[in-house]
Amino acid sequence: MDIAPAHLEYWLRDYYFTAEIDISCSGVESFSFGELRQLFNITPDDLDSIVLRDSRTLGAPDLRTAIGNRFGNGKTERVMATNGSSEAIYLIMNSLLEPGDEVVVLDPAYQQLFSIAESVGCRLKHWRLRFEDSFHPDLAEARRLIGPETRMIVVNFPHNPTGASLTPEEQDELIDLAAGAGAYLVWDAAFAELTYDSPVLPDPGTRYDRSITLGTLSKAYGLPGLRVGWCLAAPEVLERLVRLRDYTTLALSPLVEHVATRAIENGDLLVQPRLAQARHNLELLVSWANRHSEFVQLVRPQGGVSVFMRVPGVVDIEDFCRQLADEYGVLLVPGTSFGDPGYVRVGFGCSTTELTTALSRLSEHFHTYKPLVTEFHQTASSA
Ligand SMILES: Cc1ncc(COP(=O)(O)O)c(C=O)c1O
Repeated sequence: MDIAPAHLEYWLRDYYFTAEIDISCSGVESFSFGELRQLFNITPDDLDSIVLRDSRTLGAPDLRTAIGNRFGNGKTERVMATNGSSEAIYLIMNSLLEPGDEVVVLDPAYQQLFSIAESVGCRLKHWRLRFEDSFHPDLAEARRLIGPETRMIVVNFPHNPTGASLTPEEQDELIDLAAGAGAYLVWDAAFAELTYDSPVLPDPGTRYDRSITLGTLSKAYGLPGLRVGWCLAAPEVLERLVRLRDYTTLALSPLVEHVATRAIENGDLLVQPRLAQARHNLELLVSWANRHSEFVQLVRPQGGVSVFMRVPGVVDIEDFCRQLADEYGVLLVPGTSFGDPGYVRVGFGCSTTELTTALSRLSEHFHTYKPLVTEFHQTASSA
């Protein structure tokens, strides 16, 4: 299998476990198991009664019901629980695509959303999000890219890493485009509940049967280590995914399913405090960026907890981020992980104390980092 190395994962393997402060993440601050036990009143007896036998292929019935009720139309036959949404992406791309298929993907994007299709031998068409347009997705461009040849459209809104999103009307338009082409619409809703000024967008599956919606507990729920995601799709599609799953992970762990069910049933207890923290942190980050306009430019995100910050003066973004991690203990993601070396992804889902400390160290790094290009300073400060 010829598949591109997942750049972001290589970067995180180098630093995620050693950096003192992580402002690289695309998710909110993580919860401990003790916090979950308290919040959901999970007793030792609850845990003791879980028998660690094999679970069901599509997920435990209670978990599928909880997912269907909170994220779908309540119909459990459309729900498959997966080991993180990564597994769902892997199964979808490898089950539904064939060499030569045309796939329209957002660019930049989380690499899994396009590299697996590429490894299958698909032809990719890029729906570009541009800083100059405030990363706003241009539906006219989507209209030009999507046609009768399109087998699959892969989008993620609110978007990692830019925080861009669609209005409900634009979402409708995209669904109409997918329906017109008869294409699968893969709707990655990893950050669905993390929105600031706009409504949470609905599952497109309620309108279009060939849509496949992905979700996860890793981002808005602060539970990336639980490794629980899901896929909402027509039963015939899930059937195709099962064929491949039988050769990979088979199912989830009953212990994990138990905790995940409680987390989803009580979702607001996890999401609301973290969203409030992120909202507050976002204001701090925007104000920091305004005070550092000679170094950075930032588009205010509509959702998610990351921004794709432009750093026009930095020649080698990986060198810049490595020095920041090595000398200041602060972890960022270089834009090269998203194919754009002029940017860094900054995550603001962490605690406010961590963000404040990290930004002050980042400030120092900008002022002392030697290989900065000077023209940008002159242009920016004279603008
Ligand atoms: C847009 C997007 N989709 C899916 C995933 C996969 O997350 P997980 O496998 O933890 O659910 C990520 C992780 O960063 C992501 O950013």
